[in-house]
Amino acid sequence: MRLALVGAGNVADRYAAAIGAEPDLELAGATDLDGARAQALVVEHGGRAYADLDAVLADDGVDTVVNLTVPQAHFEVAAAALAAGKHVHSEKPLALAYEDARRLLELAGEHGVRLSSAPTTLLGEAPQTLWKHVRDGAVGTVRAAYAEANWDRIERWHPDPRSLYAVGPTVDVGVYPLTILTAMFGPVRLVRAYATTLEPERALLDGTAFTPAAPDFIVAVLEHESGVVIRLTASFYVGRGKQSGIEVHGDEGSLHLRDWMQADSPLELQRRGGEYAEIPPLREPFKGTDWGRALVDLARAIDEGRPHRAAGEHAAHVVEILNAVESSASDGGATAVTSAFTAPEPMDWAR
Ligand SMILES: NC(=O)c1ccc[n+]([C@@H]2O[C@H](COP(=O)([O-])OP(=O)(O)OC[C@H]3O[C@@H](n4cnc5c(N)ncnc54)[C@H](O)[C@@H]3O)[C@@H](O)[C@H]2O)c1
Repeated sequence: MRLALVGAGNVADRYAAAIGAEPDLELAGATDLDGARAQALVVEHGGRAYADLDAVLADDGVDTVVNLTVPQAHFEVAAAALAAGKHVHSEKPLALAYEDARRLLELAGEHGVRLSSAPTTLLGEAPQTLWKHVRDGAVGTVRAAYAEANWDRIERWHPDPRSLYAVGPTVDVGVYPLTILTAMFGPVRLVRAYATTLEPERALLDGTAFTPAAPDFIVAVLEHESGVVIRLTASFYVGRGKQSGIEVHGDEGSLHLRDWMQADSPLELQRRGGEYAEIPPLREPFKGTDWGRALVDLARAIDEGRPHRAAGEHAAHVVEILNAVESSASDGGATAVTSAFTAPEPMDWAR
């Protein structure tokens, strides 16, 4: 599969390196509103610097557009690529508004192309091992889960995180555990949320002052159709603390995935009344986050004529949850979620 990156900012190097490391994938090139960024990326990783998105879409040698733009541009870039007959893998969130996410699904259907979306950390060894233990009944019937997305003050490392502060921590990072938990426990039906801004005065690395445009601290309670209840915390204020990752609580015990981002995260099992003890991954894990795994799955799924795992339909459901969190936090009421999706298959080595 030949891929072009649209958006050559902070995360693009990791994608380009992952594509370069995969024999099934080839980097056709990159484009960015800031042409110098695309140029620097292709000098480092190969391929050509396209003048703009239209030039990417006009290249018959590009099968798939990898959308690494800021969240505010995800919809327009993905919509243009799908309409031009390209497969799309989008960074998260798939779109900011659920209606836009649905429109992307329609466009993919109309043009007979695939729509794939981050987050894809579910495909890593540690989350797959967690999921397998849940499916196999290691903790009995699951009734509750806690998810932590405490991402600290991202302006301490990101050159310009204002686009991420504009969408807030649930959209930027809460989306990771939400994707894993909805894969495991199915669709959410009701959301209640609280949001506030804990630290309104921020500064970029160069000292430029800014105020987060969205709340920087959110707590949400989500009820799944299956009956599982989730408490999610997302924050751009609290750093990684004692509470981290995902805890899954069942009648017979609990599982704790320490870090939902890393394929090699520690995973612990506690039988009811006992101590937490580490359990091994199903196979030797990738070290860190494998940015290429969903792209390889997409390429093979197209070849094999099967659904790809990081499906747009699932991502659209997660976008509906994100919208419900925002709406509930602003009006104080419970917000219904209505969309459905087919859960992804576990990885072959995790069945
Ligand atoms: N930075 C990270 O660690 C990280 C990790 C995981 C996921 N992501 C996701 O990746 C995406 C990009 O994040 P980032 O941190 O690289 O942001 P960034 O701001 O560093 O880079 C985004 C790039 O997109 C370009 N861009 C914006 N609109 C465009 C358009 N219409 N056409 C072409 N280029 C356009 C910008 O000029 C910029 O260079 C976001 O969706 C983010 O949620 C980032």
